[in-house]
Amino acid sequence: MKLLHLDSSILGDSSASRQLTREIVDTLRASEANLQVSYRDLVANPIPHIAGSTLAANGTPAELRSPAQQVEAAESDNTMNDFMAADVLVIGAPMYNFSIPTQLKAWIDRVVVAGKTFKYGANGPEGLAGGKKVIIVSTAGGKHAGGPTGVGHEDLLMTVFRFIGITDITIVRAQGLAMGPESRDAAFADARATITEAVGTTA
Ligand SMILES: Cc1cc2nc3c(=O)[nH]c(=O)nc-3n(C[C@H](O)[C@H](O)[C@H](O)COP(=O)(O)O)c2cc1C
Repeated sequence: MKLLHLDSSILGDSSASRQLTREIVDTLRASEANLQVSYRDLVANPIPHIAGSTLAANGTPAELRSPAQQVEAAESDNTMNDFMAADVLVIGAPMYNFSIPTQLKAWIDRVVVAGKTFKYGANGPEGLAGGKKVIIVSTAGGKHAGGPTGVGHEDLLMTVFRFIGITDITIVRAQGLAMGPESRDAAFADARATITEAVGTTA
């Protein structure tokens, strides 16, 4: 089984989502002898934001690409290949200004691609990336899930993954992290309970 682990928090060692994604991956490692994990830290090793030049590079036949286009297209191809190869994705998704980190959006822009992960058919959009399991660690200083201030965060991620055909989505939520020590402890306890339910006892 192949697992792709992505982190997008800018808060380094004090990041809640990095702590929780690590616990999920460690738990899965302990229970799956054949787990192959690939890791991308989207902050330390960022994916450039998509631009017109990205689309031009991707749309140019390989043998006609300039050196700069080869670099652009390789980033797109590698990101897409790592995504398509994965059976399970564990994604750290903090809320920054009511949305996901820009580094995570840059990754989404490389994997939501017409003709590869979705297409438009007679009945509308059709996801082509089904069969994967996605575990999203949703962290926030306040509490937003299910409310109007959460639509650019968890709801956006659900929309994106469903659009490309993924239905097995677990949200590991730790929200209210900035609302005092008791709220922070409760948020971690809730998140760990979800991890235990979804993937087993935390490692
Ligand atoms: C730049 C920035 C923007 C933030 N914006 C929000 C926000 O809009 N709503 C909120 O509830 N918390 C916000 N927070 C708090 C984070 O969601 C909180 O610190 C959480 O722990 C982030 O997850 P992380 O620790 O994995 O980075 C923000 C934090 C930062 C650094």
